[in-house]
Amino acid sequence: MKKDSATRLCAIRELENSGLGVRFVVQLDGRSRSAFVIRFDGEIKAFINECAHIGVELDWQPGIFFDSTGQQLICSTHGARYNPLTGECISGRCAGRGLIAIKIREVGEEVHLVDGKGVHLEKIIEGQSDV
Ligand code: FES
Repeated sequence: MKKDSATRLCAIRELENSGLGVRFVVQLDGRSRSAFVIRFDGEIKAFINECAHIGVELDWQPGIFFDSTGQQLICSTHGARYNPLTGECISGRCAGRGLIAIKIREVGEEVHLVDGKGVHLEKIIEGQSDV
């Protein structure tokens, strides 16, 4: 059986609690999908960057995924809100549908994407918002 491999996404120190996310692109089930990794409440989580409403990217400026309270992820288009730890829909037009989680792993001081099972890193998107 083939073992999953891991690919570096960023340094852990690049992710502040409720701060900017690091964006990247993965191949998932044979197509390129935008994705992001964030830190919340000390935990690092990654999701496909597609709102469950109509599939657009969540961030209104590159890397800005949290609402003004820093407690929820928010879609910039119609304001659907998601739990940053689970991707679960909290309110709005996601209507009970959540974000697709991506498996990551902390390796020393780095965050790695766990490649395998149809998910592969395509590229890191440089340049987060400085807003
Ligand atoms: S596209 Fe995200 S709430 Fe409508």
